[in-house]
Amino acid sequence: MSISVDSAAGQAVKAADRAHVFHSWSAQALIDPLAVAGAEGSYFWDYEGNRFLDFSSQLVNTNIGHQHPKVVAAIQEQAGKLCTFAPAFAVDVRSEAARLIAERTPGDLDKIFFTNGGAEANENAIRMARLHTGRQKVLSTYRSYHGATANAIAMTGDPRRWANETGVSGIVHFWGPYTYRSNFHAENEAQECERALQHLEATIAFEGPQTVAAIILETVVGTAGILVPPAGYLAGVREICDRYGIVFILDEVMAGFGRTGAWFAADHWGVTPDLLTFAKGVNSGYVPLGGVAISGAIARTFDERPFPGGLTYSGHPLACASAVATIDAMAEEGIVEHARHLGETVIGPGLRELAERHPVIGEVRGLGVFWALELVRDRATREPLTPYNATGAAAAPMAELAAACKQRGLWPFVNMNRLHVVPPCNSTEAEVKEGLAILDEVLSLADAHTV
Ligand SMILES: Cc1ncc(COP(=O)(O)O)c(C=O)c1O
Repeated sequence: MSISVDSAAGQAVKAADRAHVFHSWSAQALIDPLAVAGAEGSYFWDYEGNRFLDFSSQLVNTNIGHQHPKVVAAIQEQAGKLCTFAPAFAVDVRSEAARLIAERTPGDLDKIFFTNGGAEANENAIRMARLHTGRQKVLSTYRSYHGATANAIAMTGDPRRWANETGVSGIVHFWGPYTYRSNFHAENEAQECERALQHLEATIAFEGPQTVAAIILETVVGTAGILVPPAGYLAGVREICDRYGIVFILDEVMAGFGRTGAWFAADHWGVTPDLLTFAKGVNSGYVPLGGVAISGAIARTFDERPFPGGLTYSGHPLACASAVATIDAMAEEGIVEHARHLGETVIGPGLRELAERHPVIGEVRGLGVFWALELVRDRATREPLTPYNATGAAAAPMAELAAACKQRGLWPFVNMNRLHVVPPCNSTEAEVKEGLAILDEVLSLADAHTV
């Protein structure tokens, strides 16, 4: 790691950014982006010589950390050979990336449609579902994120949807399981599972089963809370979909490619969807890539009938070369097994130990390297540390916590009243412990807000 101080360079980067870069999800005048000078493995650093342990994996995508040498080399090699080629051609790295992904996806999800990211993957998945079934409606959960394009944001069940709504999406939201804040007055996981499935059945009955093309779920809900489904829930949804001829889509954009300690989160429950969407971890985001893994039955719908969708960069060679190298590196280095090991022996136990010391922790949940601390003012009432979608002064306790992490060299992932622990899947035990020690310090500050 060559970290040096070059304040003038940092200021120039920042000045051009503020003058010309229009940032996502932001009031442009109210943000202060950090100028990044470099990154390696689980760390990145700025131009002032400050180094940060990346406990966010950026946007939960750098599953193999920053600048993995094998992936960097594969991109360089591919750039020297063939930078780009139109999707209509058969290209070696595209074929190989599709083969490696199909080999790992569950069941008969053996055909891969490549996109540039997760939202486009979900757009195309619902396009396939609508054409395959001849139905229009899509059911998705509150507390979800599926991307920022038209249908993907309409399917999203968090406040990012509100400003994007047209009112004519054909998308209906329902409640998924979340035992800690049960909408079904459930007292345990088994009750939550049973009642969430009853609620889904009722939603379908009142929408009209013959109008529903697809149900889309994040296998483990990511940004909206790391919500791990109770045993039996996904199998129950699979059964409901089969009964009504509804396409079951699992969004594994965040949960896939090792994040949960399995290649796909669906593997934990032995459930096979009809369509599985991926992005992020497929190549750690080194070059934009996403896609849809398609079942035999849905693929056959488009055997004789053209699929009415496509992208100039579908299966981009640089992106596919980086996916091949990422998947190979993950397999060779046992990164998926390592992610599971970290979750079972370091992160899970470490976070539970923090919960013993810090009353602000209401619940610890997760698996692999995909964890959330749900922070509360009062453990008895479960009142969140900050109200849902709080801004300004109401959000201050979480903003203070994030700032305290950064001051101590830890880059956190914070959403509403939750702190997510989502380092790269190949973080060392020592790195994870370094991060947990910093969390221990900063959570003492947050404890001050409890009753
Ligand atoms: C579960 C899930 N689906 C879809 C998306 C959208 O992916 P992208 O930002 O690549 O369009 C995200 C992004 O965070 C995600 O977490």
